[in-house]
Amino acid sequence: MTTELLDLARSIALEAGELAAARRREGVEVAATKSNIVDVVTAADREVEELVRTRIAEARPYDGILGEEGGVSGGSSGVTWVVDPIDGTVNYLYGIPHYAVSIAVVEGEPDPATWTALAGAVFNPANGELFTASRGGGARLGDRAIRVADPTPLEQALVGTGFAYDAGVRREQGAVAAGLLPIVRDIRRGGTAALDLAYVAAGRLNVYFERTLNPWDHAAGALIAQEAGAVVKGRGDAHPSSEFIIAGHPEVVEPLEELLASLGV
Ligand code: IPD
Repeated sequence: MTTELLDLARSIALEAGELAAARRREGVEVAATKSNIVDVVTAADREVEELVRTRIAEARPYDGILGEEGGVSGGSSGVTWVVDPIDGTVNYLYGIPHYAVSIAVVEGEPDPATWTALAGAVFNPANGELFTASRGGGARLGDRAIRVADPTPLEQALVGTGFAYDAGVRREQGAVAAGLLPIVRDIRRGGTAALDLAYVAAGRLNVYFERTLNPWDHAAGALIAQEAGAVVKGRGDAHPSSEFIIAGHPEVVEPLEELLASLGV
């Protein structure tokens, strides 16, 4: 079943990504703001999510769907599709070719604290990169198996992170970044959590952490990173949540988590 779900996630992500890229070529404008003025949605986000929902409903009418723009629609099969139609909306809006369609398939309640991720696909149509994973089946970039980077001391670690839309949380995140910068190799803020996690999987980032993510931002990327050998977790032994997520080689995650705790994260 997992292979079948992964095949479907992959083909929907590719089709949805092509639609997003086509709309991007035609020009993109803000359709509405969400939590505040910097948290935006474009018509393409909505249209792409609609396409993804339609394709899932056609192929798997009894599955639930949790999508960034359309919320949750329950199913009866115990399987839920967790969808971010365009992760990296701000990059998308500005024409920065670093955004992704993120589709995960999970079993159990649609809650990252308890779900079991079965399959995931993260597709960046701007450069054609497709990251996939299935539970126990490893992670791939296109056809190639990928692995996390070997462990490295924090001084040589390239650290990915992101910032919330909320100004108060951002102020705290800025202070944490200021504390980290003198200690690590450098920091990257890619603007797309799904790709940040996929980049950990591919060894392009040593480690990644963020606060205040939504489930659809990390559902697929977390499985891809895990299947590539990363530990992906929340604080301590907790599951990743909107509270906190950290992902990377276990020997890099541990010292970074300690450092972040000392910086008040
Ligand atoms: C955002 C991106 C970003 C992260 C934000 C997310 P969106 O998702 O993943 O990298 O830092 O926390 O909200 O709004 O582009 O779907």
